[in-house]
Amino acid sequence: MPVKVSAPGKVHLVGEHAVVYGEPAIMAAVGLRTYVDAERERGSVIVEDFQRKFKAKWDLKGVLDFSEEARKIWESGAGKKPADFSGLFSFVKGDDFKKAVIGTTLSKLGIMEGVKVRITSEIPTGSGLGSSSALSVAIVKAVSEAYGKKLPLEKINEIAFGCEQLAHGMPSGGDNSTCCFGGLIWFQKDIKTGKFIIKSLRKEVPYEMKEFVLVYTGKPEKTTGELVQQVRMHEPEFRDPRIKRIGEITREMLGALKERDSEGIKSLINEDWTLLRDFGLSTPTADKLIEKIKSMGGAAKLCGACGGGMMLAYHEDLDRLKKAIKSEGFDPMEVKLGVEGVRVE
Ligand code: PMV
Repeated sequence: MPVKVSAPGKVHLVGEHAVVYGEPAIMAAVGLRTYVDAERERGSVIVEDFQRKFKAKWDLKGVLDFSEEARKIWESGAGKKPADFSGLFSFVKGDDFKKAVIGTTLSKLGIMEGVKVRITSEIPTGSGLGSSSALSVAIVKAVSEAYGKKLPLEKINEIAFGCEQLAHGMPSGGDNSTCCFGGLIWFQKDIKTGKFIIKSLRKEVPYEMKEFVLVYTGKPEKTTGELVQQVRMHEPEFRDPRIKRIGEITREMLGALKERDSEGIKSLINEDWTLLRDFGLSTPTADKLIEKIKSMGGAAKLCGACGGGMMLAYHEDLDRLKKAIKSEGFDPMEVKLGVEGVRVE
């Protein structure tokens, strides 16, 4: 019998990109999930991804060798100054990411057998909603369960973070942590030790955050790894003050959320976006829609790596907000924020 698990996507209310440099982010698990069925398989790895219409059968040794090679290329990229993962990005491309995740999971768990994995997902890929993190977390959980291993969430998160590095080079770990633990969280990485600080914000923000909607603005031309690298390549004199201010905005946002201070929330989202935009992370489509939302008194920003993908919009009058978005030809999505993390179905 296959084991079925699921993990949610995530959205940054605020703090993306700056979180890579050790600043905090406020993140919510969203009510769109990736489902993975896994069962034991002798000597090979079979993958079927219904969302991407992808099917493959790989020999087990090939999968293990691929993930080991990807890790070596990652280490060499991380050792450069500044870190450069271009080689990794051309090695781990598209659906090969699944090979890297499964190979990493099997070898981390010391499982020298194969697995059959079937994936269905509600999370659009490469759109700032953490599709790769939800996939990594769900695969680690599903494969470990299929082999009778009950891993603590911390361990699942640690292995999934290693997988995320193979997709994005230098991710913060915030995405996989939110998809793994779920809820509304404060995430920060200690840059010196690499340790994650993950704090649930349930007590500070106990209410349902219903004034937010998501809007899909189109597929980004660049991957998360490339967009993170784009920010890293800016001169430190230009980049660092903006990163620092985004960190302050996140701290101020926690206060505004606690108080349910709509005006504060809106002005912080809008300021956050002007800073992210300075890094070249917008698109003409996003600019136009954001201007419309701001002109009717709302706030909006792209999410995650940005460069297109999902937009997060906020207004205390949700009906007016949805109407404004629709009038521009877009489809506002009301999703639940702060849902449960990875789980067996
Ligand atoms: O686009 P996503 O969903 O992969 O989110 C990336 C978020 C960043 O802050 C840009 C990178 C990171 O690792 O935190």
